[in-house]
Amino acid sequence: MKNKPIKILAIETSCDETAAAVILEKNGKPEILSNIISSQADLHTKTGGVVPEVASRAHAEAIVPVVTEALLINSGKLEYQKAIKVLQNDITHIAVTNGPGLIGSLLIGFNAAKTIAYALDKPIIPINHIEGHIYSAIGQGKVEFPILALTVSGGHTSLTLMKDHGQYQIIGETLDDAAGEAFDKVARLLGLGYPGGPAISKLAEEFKGEKTFEFPRPILNNGTFNFSFSGLKTAVLQKVIDLKKEHGEKLPKQVKQEIAAAFEDAVVDVLVTKTIRAAEKFKPKAIILAGGVAANNLLRQTLELSTLNLKLATKFLVPPKIYCGDNAAMIGLAAFYHIQRGDYSTWDQVKVDSNLELAN
Ligand code: KG4
Ligand code: ZN
Repeated sequence: MKNKPIKILAIETSCDETAAAVILEKNGKPEILSNIISSQADLHTKTGGVVPEVASRAHAEAIVPVVTEALLINSGKLEYQKAIKVLQNDITHIAVTNGPGLIGSLLIGFNAAKTIAYALDKPIIPINHIEGHIYSAIGQGKVEFPILALTVSGGHTSLTLMKDHGQYQIIGETLDDAAGEAFDKVARLLGLGYPGGPAISKLAEEFKGEKTFEFPRPILNNGTFNFSFSGLKTAVLQKVIDLKKEHGEKLPKQVKQEIAAAFEDAVVDVLVTKTIRAAEKFKPKAIILAGGVAANNLLRQTLELSTLNLKLATKFLVPPKIYCGDNAAMIGLAAFYHIQRGDYSTWDQVKVDSNLELAN
């Protein structure tokens, strides 16, 4: 009898999005059939950031409807009995984020996945969240290794060298704040909402004219591939204090636009310069940009252009913006390649770890 094609239900709840997706094997490649995301951004706007307890409660409410919607691809109705049939009869594997992230949030998706795997006797694949982000860029594509991946999100900033599927060597990471965290903190300083990245980037794009100041590029020339963003945030704070002395407590829009543009320039400059230096050293076949901050236009454009200028025949891969932020399709894509290597587990073998490291 012919084997059933791989059909994965993937679940992701590591931070503030409750997400589920279904991935189907088609001609030996993974295809995304559904990708449902229930965002809690509105819930966290009031506090200017994610309150873990609030996040896990929201996941607990959303998880069953989100999984159901993902299973009933584009049906538009929450027919739970139908979804259970799909789970029983069609889904071959369960994939789930098992870290890193907020433990209360992770546990909701993880235990949902584990329960399904237990009750229906299905194999389960635990996926590192950062690995998921990287696979959002690899997708179905035929990729050649080595790959150099710049992962930039609200919780992480790292440069990873991949010699093959599932083989990770971290060559640089942030010593303090993540790039996205810096965007969120500067947004708070300027009185913008949460998440701050899109708001800062919109303001920055509105800025027209010559910039009159620059922010520092922390540890740009320290000879490592590491990053540091906390000093940059402090520099922005100091500048805001100075500008308020000049313009009054309510900064004019034009001034805020200039701060946003100068800040974005500094972050993008550091990220791109270090990535390109790493590419010159390791000569990858592809450079990947992934994670929530990969939705940033300036970063996408600058890294793409710099990759072209390398003259190494290095490809540039970045996911469409909808797959940059947290989603479950990326978890399912990563799981697909684990399954192809015969790497899956049973429900009683998997563990969740809020500080999970990306390991081979
Ligand atoms: O990957 P992600 O959705 O969640 C984590 O794994 O952390 O990343 C969220 C981060 C937030 O800090 C958000 O401000 C940032 O990505 N972000 C952006 C943009 N869109 C989202 N940062 C800069 N420019 C953007 N357009
Ligand atoms: Zn993420």
